[in-house]
Amino acid sequence: MDLRDKVAVVTGGASGIGTGLCRKFRAEGVRGLVIADLNGDAASDLAAELDGKSYAVDVRDEAAIARMVTETEAEFGQVDLFCSNAGILNLDEGEFWATSSPNDVWQRNWEIHVMAHIYAARACLPDMMRRRDGYFLHTVSAAGLLTQPFTAAYATTKHAAIGFAESLAITHGDHGIKVSCLCPQAVDTAMLGGTDGGTAGLDGILSPEQVAEAVVQGLREECFLILPHEQVHQYHLNKAQNYNRWIGGMRKLRRSMRPPTLP
Ligand SMILES: NC(=O)c1ccc[n+]([C@@H]2O[C@H](COP(=O)([O-])OP(=O)(O)OC[C@H]3O[C@@H](n4cnc5c(N)ncnc54)[C@H](O)[C@@H]3O)[C@@H](O)[C@H]2O)c1
Repeated sequence: MDLRDKVAVVTGGASGIGTGLCRKFRAEGVRGLVIADLNGDAASDLAAELDGKSYAVDVRDEAAIARMVTETEAEFGQVDLFCSNAGILNLDEGEFWATSSPNDVWQRNWEIHVMAHIYAARACLPDMMRRRDGYFLHTVSAAGLLTQPFTAAYATTKHAAIGFAESLAITHGDHGIKVSCLCPQAVDTAMLGGTDGGTAGLDGILSPEQVAEAVVQGLREECFLILPHEQVHQYHLNKAQNYNRWIGGMRKLRRSMRPPTLP
């Protein structure tokens, strides 16, 4: 997809990677830019700067997502690209047991990282399928392919996000629907909170601008996996080639790491 004259919606657009995407999309010449975020004030400030439109929405609210898509279609004629980018990070609690986060944390991760992507697809697909054209970008994480120590709820729901994206691509590819999953390791955003990123930071911390650059390239090439840290490709191959050895390597990595501290 070439972004010129397209209409793009970005959730979690008011900070970090989402803001990087919004700025880059504007520079690439989109004709409609919708910035959606729980933080309505920051979304509105960015929309004023980028000549976009902002929505204060919680992506867990299906009716709000549907309303935003309907209004965008009415104003701009269509949604060409919906970026489900909003996300949260919770570290495992207690003694860093994989089960230690309380149920409400698991539920919130599930709703933001998976259900929100389903709500976006449900809202956009009817018009996209009518036009036989449309694109979904899901900001996932390398943790969705490779897991990440100390963050079981995050890693598990990010895997589920990949699962849904695969279903979307397989079921609707013949209807003209394209899907990409953005899977970076550490990126310098509020989510990282000025830390070294723990295991996610071992291959370096990218800026949101570098990630946005990789996204534009990935969208142009219509790649299912967009991997701004190129090492992730080899790690993913290693996992597929020998699962047992990969688990062993990850256990070794975990033992070598200090549990991260919350920002
Ligand atoms: N920063 C990293 O190292 C990194 C690495 C891999 C993947 N990611 C993913 O990138 C995406 C963006 O994260 P970021 O690093 O830019 O973090 P960030 O904290 O800077 O931005 C996240 C944005 O999402 C918004 N948000 C959170 N919950 C929301 C909700 N329920 N409804 C609407 N908006 C909501 C926040 O208000 C914030 O503006 C996330 O999905 C994250 O999991 C981040």
